[in-house]
Amino acid sequence: MMRVGVLASGSGSNFSALVGALNQPASAARVEVLICNVPGAKVLQRAAEAGVEAVLLDHRSMPSREQYDEAVAQALIDRRIELVCLAGYMRLVSPAFLRRFPGKVINIHPALLPAFPGLHGVRQALESGVRVAGCTVHFVDEGTDTGPIIAQAAVPVLPADDEASLAARIQKEEHRLYPAVVRALARGAVTLEGRKVRLEEPL
Ligand code: GRF
Repeated sequence: MMRVGVLASGSGSNFSALVGALNQPASAARVEVLICNVPGAKVLQRAAEAGVEAVLLDHRSMPSREQYDEAVAQALIDRRIELVCLAGYMRLVSPAFLRRFPGKVINIHPALLPAFPGLHGVRQALESGVRVAGCTVHFVDEGTDTGPIIAQAAVPVLPADDEASLAARIQKEEHRLYPAVVRALARGAVTLEGRKVRLEEPL
């Protein structure tokens, strides 16, 4: 069983989707801990309701990014976490953090990367006039949403869409795709070959 840690800052709907899909008997992967950097974030309440351990590490209480990331890494190592899932984690992770978990940090982004990285992926897509939007699960590297792509799901952009309606359509796909990717990783069905990811089986 693969021990998963989730890092989140906000609402936590992806956290709940991961827990709902993975924390089941005989699952190949299980969410063991939530690490959150924002006091009062809704995701903390979701963890309490789901009975998943939550660790609040407020980055504002740490003198530097390196020290903050070191505290996060230590919390994950203490719990023998093997896969780190960023899920609405509004911070860049440092190179030192990534070196602690080589090839073991993944992220979900609400756009079809490499289009629309960074903040407000959904808004950027709407403003650009694309007809197809979606989400991407990728390995995290030192850039912002630049790591090797593992899986993507597409949704149509409809004429009447606003940011909320398109975001909701994309999130529905996120909640399906993210657990599917974690399961595939837990089965060893995902291999990183340079910049490209090989999937042994369809997701
Ligand atoms: C998701 O849209 C994800 O793609 C992005 O942040 C959002 C988090 O939503 N990285 P939630 O907190 O999981 O509801």
